[in-house]
Amino acid sequence: VQKHQNQIIAIDGPAGSGKSTAARLLAPRVDFLHVDTGAIYRTLTLLAIEGNIDLDNQQALAALVPQLNISFKTASDRILVFSGDREVSNEIRNPELTAQVHFAAASPLVRQALQPLQRSFAVSHSVVMEGRDIGTVIFPDADLKFFLDAPLKSRAERRWRELQAKGEKISLQEVEADQTARDKNDTDRQTAPLRAAEDAIVVDTGLYDIDGMVEELERIVRSKLAIPAGAEEQS
Ligand code: C5P
Repeated sequence: VQKHQNQIIAIDGPAGSGKSTAARLLAPRVDFLHVDTGAIYRTLTLLAIEGNIDLDNQQALAALVPQLNISFKTASDRILVFSGDREVSNEIRNPELTAQVHFAAASPLVRQALQPLQRSFAVSHSVVMEGRDIGTVIFPDADLKFFLDAPLKSRAERRWRELQAKGEKISLQEVEADQTARDKNDTDRQTAPLRAAEDAIVVDTGLYDIDGMVEELERIVRSKLAIPAGAEEQS
């Protein structure tokens, strides 16, 4: 039996655009693996902080990459992130760590070192991979590329509500300021800046509720890709 070629759906976009939620809900509908590449940059930053490594030291950060052993598990309402056996899902998302991830993200050395790791997820699975540079750098030949975007206000509100639900004490203004700073870092950096690939389908997530957005993405996926039988249409 000839093995089906693995397929790749890239989902890029700024912080709070809803791409994580979209990727998490879309992936099981088409029976693809969801890979959250932001979690990889975050886990690397966590390991560096715990190892007292200077986040400004690109060589030292890149030297941690071979130690990364990241896996994902989809829970009912979120994706769980594991570093080896250790679940790091909460630690990697706290606002203090989030504010430090730009060191790893801005480093050409680190980004280079993380490329094979990110590509390796697609060796054994069809993937929905979300990040900032998936359609431009990691998988420029992805079968389908989405770029999700929404106005800053609605992205900040979305992220603020998520943090509130987790009991984080942070104001909407602070979240908006953090997000603006992160967007600027991601957009202005030299290496792999955040931008839509030329062949990406741009979706304004502000126009949909979550269910509507996932349905729209699934509709596009099914119209463009041959999804193997077994990934039943859900309604
Ligand atoms: O997506 P998430 O907000 O978890 O990503 C955390 C940070 O990691 C982003 O602010 C961005 O700087 C960086 N990142 C990146 N390239 C990716 C994914 C994330 O630079 N593909």
